[in-house]
Amino acid sequence: MARYGKFEGCSNYIALIGTKSKDLDERVGYYGEHLVLKAQELGLNTCWVALTHGKSQAVINKGETEAILIALGYGKTKGNPRRSKKAEEVSNIQDDSPEWFKKGVEAALLAPTAINQQKFFIELGGNKVKIKKGLVGPELNVDLGIIKCHFELGAGKENFEWAE
Ligand SMILES: Cc1cc2nc3c(=O)[nH]c(=O)nc-3n(C[C@H](O)[C@H](O)[C@H](O)COP(=O)(O)O)c2cc1C
Repeated sequence: MARYGKFEGCSNYIALIGTKSKDLDERVGYYGEHLVLKAQELGLNTCWVALTHGKSQAVINKGETEAILIALGYGKTKGNPRRSKKAEEVSNIQDDSPEWFKKGVEAALLAPTAINQQKFFIELGGNKVKIKKGLVGPELNVDLGIIKCHFELGAGKENFEWAE
């Protein structure tokens, strides 16, 4: 892991591998972020790594592809504050939006995205929520899955339905 990116002394990682399919990246983002949050909860630190890693040791069978890696270990720090977009920039939030929606958007803004791009838009109509991904940028489908994970955990699954 150490060779290309900002990573030092990192030898453990989770390789997210699956059968090639159109929605693999989104599913990898959604379930991978659950692993990330569990690891962080256990006192470990993590970082999604799409590009800046060396060759992975994972076994990739025929018909499968390695979507992305998650670096895993004890960080020198627990992370640093970063810039974030505002709720109004990434959703149709209003003063009178339901509390669960506000919490979902807040949780989505805490989610990691590739190069901190935060290119998504969360729309509430009735009790249905739709998340649109950005048009141009790296790893937008993985980001989308990660955002869905965070929104769901922040908002509470019982409060809304996904549109479509
Ligand atoms: C899908 C995805 C891919 C990423 N790929 C890389 C990468 O290749 N190299 C890297 O150093 N960081 C990578 N990151 C980490 C992001 O740059 C980082 O999560 C983002 O800047 C937000 O910072 P935070 O995680 O500290 O909140 C990636 C993050 C995501 C979500």
